[in-house]
Amino acid sequence: MMTNEWSMQPLPEMDQDQFAQWQTLLESRTGMRVSEQRKTFLQTSVGMRMRELGLSDYQNYYDRVVEHPPGGMEWTLLVDRLTVQETSFFRHQASYDLVQRYLRQRALSGKTIEIWSVGCSTGEEPYSLAMLAQETLLDTDSYFGITATDISAPALAKARQGIYPARKVETLPAEQAAQFFTPLEKGRYQVVADLRDRVCFSQVNVLELGKTPMYGMDLIYCQNLLIYFRRWRRKEILNRLAERLAPGGLLVVGLGEVVDWSHPELEREGDAATLAFRKRVSA
Ligand SMILES: C[S@@+](CC[C@H](N)C(=O)[O-])C[C@H]1O[C@@H](n2cnc3c(N)ncnc32)[C@H](O)[C@@H]1O
Repeated sequence: MMTNEWSMQPLPEMDQDQFAQWQTLLESRTGMRVSEQRKTFLQTSVGMRMRELGLSDYQNYYDRVVEHPPGGMEWTLLVDRLTVQETSFFRHQASYDLVQRYLRQRALSGKTIEIWSVGCSTGEEPYSLAMLAQETLLDTDSYFGITATDISAPALAKARQGIYPARKVETLPAEQAAQFFTPLEKGRYQVVADLRDRVCFSQVNVLELGKTPMYGMDLIYCQNLLIYFRRWRRKEILNRLAERLAPGGLLVVGLGEVVDWSHPELEREGDAATLAFRKRVSA
């Protein structure tokens, strides 16, 4: 059958065993849990990719995916389609207010401030941190650098370009948008080169934090990523991130993303509107 003829056919139904197989693969490689309620989403995303390849058998495609290591092209593409990449500039204002207070204080040391955005998606989060740091540290002797990481290579490619539609940029105060974005054709905007240069994007799977060289971070910002993981895994990852903080460093997580987690070297910071932890200076 010709590919385009087949692509007109309805998607085959994924049976429970096949669904379980995909669930296990995704969770073991990314940490993400695909609940029963999201079966249709998984089936549609996998099915669309199979159509592009002219395949009609889920098992056949699954075997093809597992045959290659996670770094392979097919897996990269699939992960991008199966992850939720929703994001926006200054997504949780209370967290950014906390970060601003922290940066002011941290700048008193005059040292370079190292910031890490974990699960940065298409870049709105690290660029928000960059704008905030630029504005906050303007009259200080402190310099800052941002590392932004995500599992999705296509999301990182978009982030590096820093091109966004007007509807996203228009959520920013006009003055900030004018300072940090250049208008392009077709109602799009690009982050100015000066700010883009402050952010280093890199592919990192949070299940493999042991492989990353990031240590001595002053600020680790990790929001809307852990919610897709099991509770024990969230805590595991937070333990690993805590190790990467510099003494006095701040870890900012999404509100409600983890409950009953604590770390001997960290103490709660901020109020009930945020979820953040500060590493003791003596740690
Ligand atoms: C919903 S977005 C959150 C973006 C941003 N942090 C925010 O709060 O707006 C979740 C991001 O986590 C990434 N992600 C999912 N699993 C991951 C993993 N195992 N390692 C690293 N990033 C992952 C996805 O690719 C996606 O870009």
